[in-house]
Amino acid sequence: MKRPIMLQEVLRLLKGGEGYVSGEKISTGLGLTRAAVWKKIGILRREGFIIEAIPSRGYRLIQSPDLSVEEILAEVRGDFWKEVLFYKTIDSTNDLAASLSVKKNLASGTVIIADMQEKGKGRLGRRWLSPPGLNIYMSVILKPEMAPRDATLLTVLSAVAGAVAIRGESGLQASIKWPNDLIVSGRKIGGILTEVRTDPDKINVAIIGIGINVNIEAAEFPDEIRTIGTSLKAETGQHYSRSRIIVRILREIESWFHILKKDGRVPLLQEWKRLSSTLGKEVKVTTGEEIISGTAEDIDDEGMLIMRLPSGIKRRISAGDLTELR
Ligand code: BTN
Repeated sequence: MKRPIMLQEVLRLLKGGEGYVSGEKISTGLGLTRAAVWKKIGILRREGFIIEAIPSRGYRLIQSPDLSVEEILAEVRGDFWKEVLFYKTIDSTNDLAASLSVKKNLASGTVIIADMQEKGKGRLGRRWLSPPGLNIYMSVILKPEMAPRDATLLTVLSAVAGAVAIRGESGLQASIKWPNDLIVSGRKIGGILTEVRTDPDKINVAIIGIGINVNIEAAEFPDEIRTIGTSLKAETGQHYSRSRIIVRILREIESWFHILKKDGRVPLLQEWKRLSSTLGKEVKVTTGEEIISGTAEDIDDEGMLIMRLPSGIKRRISAGDLTELR
């Protein structure tokens, strides 16, 4: 079921207003009765919005909850982003997106967000730490006009979106370790897991899973992750709104799709290179079959890594587990 648009409209008016927004303005602006406005305010309050109401002045938004679908929709819903589905607990947003996109034929531009995942998945069959109330676990469903070989480009695009969102929200110098890691201070702060269903000549559905460690404290990481993982909170000591970061990521993804369509892939690849921590480094890549060492020289226009081996020969790598050596 589609989320009714009216709540988001009320929220937009509250967010747009300087100080108090009168009940009159909301009811005439949206064609609602005053009683209906009051009801919407009640729903928003139950979702965690703190809204002051003073009879002679109107309503004032004091505080938004840390994660709110209404807030995300109020900011991004349009031609590109159609719907946001929220789940308190779920196995994996990627798995649910995969099954719903088949069973319910969900539209391109549907976003699935969970507060926690029981079986969060990382790349290469790893688990993704997904405790409740702290981090971002989301999957976006897209049906882009793209060839199957361009699936890696979707990871490149989403990694750029994630790094830019973290930078914009926190000022941290987030970078991208090829192919999908978001890195701050040499530690992993987020990752992308892209899964595609393809026809012979085009991507049928792409599910891009994005996990970002937001408000988890360093002490809450299990021992095996503590030295290699980090979060926005662990880096800055501050608490962040998950909604705001999600909005930034979704806006970035949307805008890069427009740029891809209008100007091709060069601007995206340039931005990826600007944000990359990998290029120019000595690296070791473990693929399914072999371990390859060399210098990470470039990425090609499908998002593949171009390595220069000690013999001088160049190799294109499509996937693997990469360690930056120096
Ligand atoms: C990685 O770096 O290995 C990729 C991590 C991707 C994690 C996200 S969290 C939301 C989505 N659902 C999953 O089960 N995994 C991705």
